[in-house]
Amino acid sequence: MLLLGDDELIAEGVRRDVFRYPGNSDLLVKVLKRTFIEKRNGQGAPWYNFKRLRHRYFRNLRRPHFDMYVSEIREQLAFAEAGLRHPHYLQRIVGFEETNKGLGLTVQAIKGRDGDLAPTVGALARAGTFDLPLRKMLDEFLDELLRSPITISDLNIDNIVLGYSEELGDYYVVIDGYGTRTLLPVERISERARRSAKQRQFTNFRRQLANPPPPAALRAKESGAFTEGKAATAHFE
Ligand SMILES: Nc1ncnc2c1ncn2[C@@H]1O[C@H](COP(=O)(O)OP(=O)(O)OP(=O)(O)O)[C@@H](O)[C@H]1O
Ligand SMILES: [Mg+2]
Repeated sequence: MLLLGDDELIAEGVRRDVFRYPGNSDLLVKVLKRTFIEKRNGQGAPWYNFKRLRHRYFRNLRRPHFDMYVSEIREQLAFAEAGLRHPHYLQRIVGFEETNKGLGLTVQAIKGRDGDLAPTVGALARAGTFDLPLRKMLDEFLDELLRSPITISDLNIDNIVLGYSEELGDYYVVIDGYGTRTLLPVERISERARRSAKQRQFTNFRRQLANPPPPAALRAKESGAFTEGKAATAHFE
């Protein structure tokens, strides 16, 4: 089992903690937060106090919290199925890892120009360093996303990072917010629905870029959403 401690924690989203992979700087491990699992399927869920609903929900409708991994993996596999190489603009999932914090999703770490973890577009925009060349590159990147078969569900400014490699130079990568999250995934069936959903996401993305809000994880923290409740899942210990 992979042992992850606070020293390995390098970033935090609303739903996941991101750790460096011990002994391999090219990888990261993403682990679902307990608070997220709790909110989705445990005592924090809105229906939890309605006993009958709870019973039915658990029996029929429960949304497994790992299903977001399934939708991310499905997007990745679509390229292999079409006989295509993995595109550089999409985070590459490498596998799963059992960790002391729960099941981890292992992904390729995207590095920035300084060799450290790549900055998010949000971090660059907040620091005022999102300059004209980066904006131009972003237009091309969004165009590429529009033509790509991937489905986008949450294109916020902290879900895109600016990577750098000798081969590609600067390049943007979608590290989260792709794959379908709805029960009826129209976007997976209809190319037109997929494109118009993407256009909506792009508008929102550009709005965020013009006036960057604080990272969602920080907002959630400040509102107390990360305060540990009674853990519904004991298997983490
Ligand atoms: N492959 C990657 N390479 C570099 N940095 C990454 C990578 N994946 C995640 N990160 C960093 O970790 C942060 C959180 O990751 P991620 O967006 O996957 O978490 P999340 O909890 O699912 O996000 P959300 O807040 O949207 O729910 C990102 O904003 C980014 O800074
Ligand atoms: Mg995210």
